Amino acid sequence: MSTHHPAPASRRVTAPQLAARKRRGERFAMLTAYDTPTARILDANGIDVILVGDSLGMVVLGRDTTLPVTMDEMIHHTGAVTRGASRALVTGDMPFLSYHESPAQAVRNAGRFVQEAGAATVKMEGGRKRLDVIRAVLNAEIPVMGHLGLTPQSFHSMGGFRIQGLTGERAHEIMEDARALADAGIFALVLEGIPAELARAVTREVPCPTFGIGAGPHCDGQVLVLHDMLGLTDSPPRFVRRYADVGTQIATAVQRFQQDVRDGEFPSEEETYPSPEGLAHEIRERYGC
Ligand code: KIV
Repeated sequence: MSTHHPAPASRRVTAPQLAARKRRGERFAMLTAYDTPTARILDANGIDVILVGDSLGMVVLGRDTTLPVTMDEMIHHTGAVTRGASRALVTGDMPFLSYHESPAQAVRNAGRFVQEAGAATVKMEGGRKRLDVIRAVLNAEIPVMGHLGLTPQSFHSMGGFRIQGLTGERAHEIMEDARALADAGIFALVLEGIPAELARAVTREVPCPTFGIGAGPHCDGQVLVLHDMLGLTDSPPRFVRRYADVGTQIATAVQRFQQDVRDGEFPSEEETYPSPEGLAHEIRERYGC
């Protein structure tokens, strides 16, 4: 009997590789993306994991929280990102209420990220409370990234975007949630908005890589929202480092374009399609210009 062997492993980052890379002491960078051109840039510049975050709702779609983001919006943007990423591992963020009802609902919606949008993995917020739905998605062979600490989909039950794990009891809950998710087999864990010491303890405890955002320097990796680090959002939180001021660059470009149009400086001859000589003459004669 002949067995078909798939083509040699490509350079693509895969979910199972990440735990082995953690054991070797590697550190990982993850960024969000929501469209093809930025996904291409992240992919070409060595970002290991691209998260199509439901932060989409806030940084791209102008909403105040992530709560109104729909599955259809996430699928639309995740498809755009996977079309731009040939190396990075793409994770689709499951939006609010797309996995809270039942394991069957969670599997169906996680499956849409894979089948319709081409993502390899999904992310779900929450710990032991969500263990049944996370297990169901893992059983459907879809790798899951967990997300603990400040979980933005819990905006109302947390009383706003509030740092978590500030009491011994809450820190212990986060640690127990992390252990439960790791035992279930998640491939990575986002730790958001928790004190650095707690993030360090969780990172030591779990075999999968942790990605910190507002969780200090001791995680295996760090994740930022692309628009925050590029300078495209107003008043970002204190954990954001601005690596560029793209907002100012866009403003300058827009002003220069407007001025050039008003001054008749754009387009130039080089930026214009010439007419064949005979036709140019005919048009001038016929229309008197
Ligand atoms: O939605 C998102 O971008 C996220 C990151 C902040 C981790 O969940």
